[in-house]
Amino acid sequence: MLTSGHCSLEARVVDITTLAVDAIVNAANTSLLGGGGVDGAIHRAAGRALLRECETLGGCATGDAKLTAGYQLPAKHVIHAVGPVWHGGGRGEAELLASCYRRSLELAQQAHCRSIAFPAISCGVYRFPADAAVDIALDAVLGTLPRTPSIERVLFACFDDAMFARYESRLAALAARQRQAPPSKPA
Ligand code: AR6
Repeated sequence: MLTSGHCSLEARVVDITTLAVDAIVNAANTSLLGGGGVDGAIHRAAGRALLRECETLGGCATGDAKLTAGYQLPAKHVIHAVGPVWHGGGRGEAELLASCYRRSLELAQQAHCRSIAFPAISCGVYRFPADAAVDIALDAVLGTLPRTPSIERVLFACFDDAMFARYESRLAALAARQRQAPPSKPA
């Protein structure tokens, strides 16, 4: 666990569809009309009403996100973020992935969310290298949190132990760095 200002960041091995948080993030595609992986699991658990709302949204650009209700999910909202397909790194994939995390937090802030859970966007079917994706996710979240004061808890929902281990080691390294050089207090 890592603390950043008013917010805690934590990784857990968990099915994101079971989390009773204010918002879960979906790893969607530009159509927003469902798919496999975490997207399929979220649509199955939320029920048909989620698809009906998604049909009204007109899709979503890669790197952007759109917010819906959570319907039958324990989460209040779903934030559908569209990660980049990995093409080798030369097509702006890192910036597009960072943008997904930033935009998701901004939408969560607009909806006054206090807690949000992310899956490892683009790390499944879209084949983004997982170690780099975890670094990008943490940098983007830590860089955005100062502008999203409503958010008190960020959870990284890992589907397997390998992804959890990546988040844990990066979070522990950041926490150790924080202990060595605590953030300066305002005068
Ligand atoms: N809870 C948490 N994480 C999960 C869950 C779950 N229930 N299920 C899978 N994961 P992916 P992408 C993890 O492929 O790479 C869809 O068809 C999974 O282990 O879901 O962004 C969309 O419609 C992996 O670490 O998303 C798009 O077309 C991570 O979630 C496309 O896949 C993301 O894997 C998006 O591909």
